[in-house]
Amino acid sequence: MALRKRKIVLGVSGGIAAYKAVELLRLLTKERATVYVVMSANADKFVTPLTFEALSGNPVYHQVFDSASSSLMEHIRVAESADLLVVAPATASTIGKMANGLADDALSNLFAAFRGPVLIAPAMNDGMYANPAVKANIETMKGRGVEFIEPEHGELACGTIGPGRLVAPEILLEAVKRQLSLKNDLSKFRILVTAGPTHEPLDPVRYITNPSSGKMGFAVAHAARDRGAKVTLISGPTRLAVSEDVRFFSCRKASEMNELVHKQLPSCDVLIMTAAVGDFAPEQIEKEKIKKKGGESLVLKLVPTEDILLNVAEWKTGQFVVGFAAESENIIQSAIEKLHNKKLDFIVANDISAPGIGFQSDSNQVTFIDKEERIEQLPLLPKREIADHLLDRILSLISPADGRG
Ligand code: CTP
Repeated sequence: MALRKRKIVLGVSGGIAAYKAVELLRLLTKERATVYVVMSANADKFVTPLTFEALSGNPVYHQVFDSASSSLMEHIRVAESADLLVVAPATASTIGKMANGLADDALSNLFAAFRGPVLIAPAMNDGMYANPAVKANIETMKGRGVEFIEPEHGELACGTIGPGRLVAPEILLEAVKRQLSLKNDLSKFRILVTAGPTHEPLDPVRYITNPSSGKMGFAVAHAARDRGAKVTLISGPTRLAVSEDVRFFSCRKASEMNELVHKQLPSCDVLIMTAAVGDFAPEQIEKEKIKKKGGESLVLKLVPTEDILLNVAEWKTGQFVVGFAAESENIIQSAIEKLHNKKLDFIVANDISAPGIGFQSDSNQVTFIDKEERIEQLPLLPKREIADHLLDRILSLISPADGRG
């Protein structure tokens, strides 16, 4: 039952080894994972979509432009909340498409839109596997954080003996479990995470906000959930999907987030405040839409919102509190000041002026600073990896006995 409540997308491409994907699907569902199968254009020459549909209990996505087959959009929605995409078997052609961003069948389309962790199990002729272009494609994808399971050495469908055979379904299952980092090292902890921007309304249609997408906070919440923590996520408005086993509260204004944090704080051990809380709100919210009055300017009076972390400094009863600092200058110094002013245990400093990272992006480059002002600068990393590094550091500070300090 180790995979209960895990959502896995199983990508199958067109090779003889596709029959092993049927067995993998059976093993995954036996462990209670929810599995959605996506097939490449040629995969149905080896196994019918109906087989996968019957065994998974879910629609199979196999034709991009067929209205009878379930649609790309529907599957992208599924993939948004999936914990893992595992492609087994992955042929040379499918690997080539994935490495180069081509999207001309169901599997390559889904891969192009997928943002979570990916595990690929190649299977092909040994000559193909040794081909420099195939090797380069695999290296490219490894460089982007995709995990590969090396094929086995053995008798291949073409009759030759060499590396290229898809590993056994049981080994694939173990790799899936490893990839989902079912290490459970946070199972003793209740973690409260905030995410997203806030909206401070001016009138029924207008509001003040910032470009936060919520991706960092959702990545932290899902990473903590994967490591066994009991996770509560409080988020301002985002487009992101949240996993069912995270307790979720949505809010809009800073004052609402403040209230939710106040309520949830007593029942958590760690608070990770990634939310980009608006600092100012209109003093007055107009009941009706504000009208233009000729060429007159509109003067707004903004008042400070609640500083949630400053309030937490008063409310906390032993919780480990982590803040995020969005800075555009004197990054480290300003973050250290926030760490002390807000009585935090740890702060993650974030240079919002650097192009292509931070808000909206899937990657970020951050610096960790603890209460002793020890500084650790991380390289540019996917937000999910930053989340895992952050959780490692928190764990080493709250449970040094675990030997991670
Ligand atoms: N924060 C908060 N309540 C606010 C504003 C921010 O709890 N009203 C939290 C954020 O979630 C973050 C930390 O405080 O964890 C730092 O946020 P940041 O926007 O970097 O700093 P501010 O405190 O708002 O200060 P300034 O905008 O002046 O740099």
